[in-house]
Amino acid sequence: MNHASGELCRLFGIERPIFQAGMGWVTTGRIAAAVSGSGGLGCIATGGIMGGDELRDHIAHVRDVAPGRPFAVNLLLPSGADDSDTMGGLDFTRLQLDVCFEQKVPIIISGLGNPAEVVGEIHAHGAKLVCVVGTVRAALKVAGLGADAVVLSGAEAGGHCGPTGTLSLAQAGIGRIGVPVLVAGGIATPQTVAAALALGAAGVSVGTRFLASEESDAHPVYKQAVVDADERATAVTRACTGKPSRAWRSPFVAEWEGREAEIQPYPEQAIDHFWRAYAGAIEGDLEQGFFPLGQCAAAIDEILPAARIVDLLAAPAEVAA
Ligand SMILES: Cc1cc2nc3c(=O)[nH]c(=O)nc-3n(C[C@H](O)[C@H](O)[C@H](O)COP(=O)(O)O)c2cc1C
Repeated sequence: MNHASGELCRLFGIERPIFQAGMGWVTTGRIAAAVSGSGGLGCIATGGIMGGDELRDHIAHVRDVAPGRPFAVNLLLPSGADDSDTMGGLDFTRLQLDVCFEQKVPIIISGLGNPAEVVGEIHAHGAKLVCVVGTVRAALKVAGLGADAVVLSGAEAGGHCGPTGTLSLAQAGIGRIGVPVLVAGGIATPQTVAAALALGAAGVSVGTRFLASEESDAHPVYKQAVVDADERATAVTRACTGKPSRAWRSPFVAEWEGREAEIQPYPEQAIDHFWRAYAGAIEGDLEQGFFPLGQCAAAIDEILPAARIVDLLAAPAEVAA
């Protein structure tokens, strides 16, 4: 394992520098337990709306199945929205954060939003904070605020994404941030993990590859869409939340093409359409649903157990040991 990966593993108490990215509804205690049990870092995603008891149940499941292993909870931090009915609304995030503190969750991973208001509290509770960002500027900012590690997430990534490709972002950012940097967006094979490590990344954060795992809670038609996708199957759209998000080019996404000016800003668009993310992920509604998906789906041709995915992805890090 190279120096940066070794430092990352020591910092987070993991054996392999592979983070399973938080994916709303899709990554619950089931996959988090499988990944953490395999030496990577599993992550329960709250999707901004998971209730407190449900979150407690998923945390308990991880602790039952992978006792003593570190794991993370992914929160969508507030980003200007104060409507408690929307993703990332202040009230719900507060509730989830308090459950994380009460349950002594060791690692919190923030997606959307600004961690300034919560980083001190997270550290005071003995937890670590990892921030996912799409620009070097944001990475420097969150590192300056006290984030323990940063995930640089490129435009290939499934879900909310920035404008810059993973390779360019990684080249621009690694070595400049001052805390360990993981790379995300388009990492689905051992070869891409090797590339990230060659760029100097401490580790990788992986979403779409784990979407097509046995333990993800995605509906079977969603997993099949990952397997069937080619590299043109996704599009970046604001149609679901008002923020740019990469997703499978479903009928709902196609319907908004050419009508971008009619899309409302976040959170208004999310109030009207965020339900479609549940309809896609859990109900498998191909017509009405919304299906976040990364471009690397093109390289995924089978649904595998999550532990097997961790083994495959971690191999380059072990070779470099
Ligand atoms: C289905 C799906 C749901 C996602 N949901 C979330 C989420 O709830 N919170 C978050 O911070 N990021 C979310 N993301 C982004 C991932 O955490 C991760 O950064 C991204 O998938 C990495 O790129 P990749 O898909 O190319 O591996 C989601 C991505 C996907 C594909």
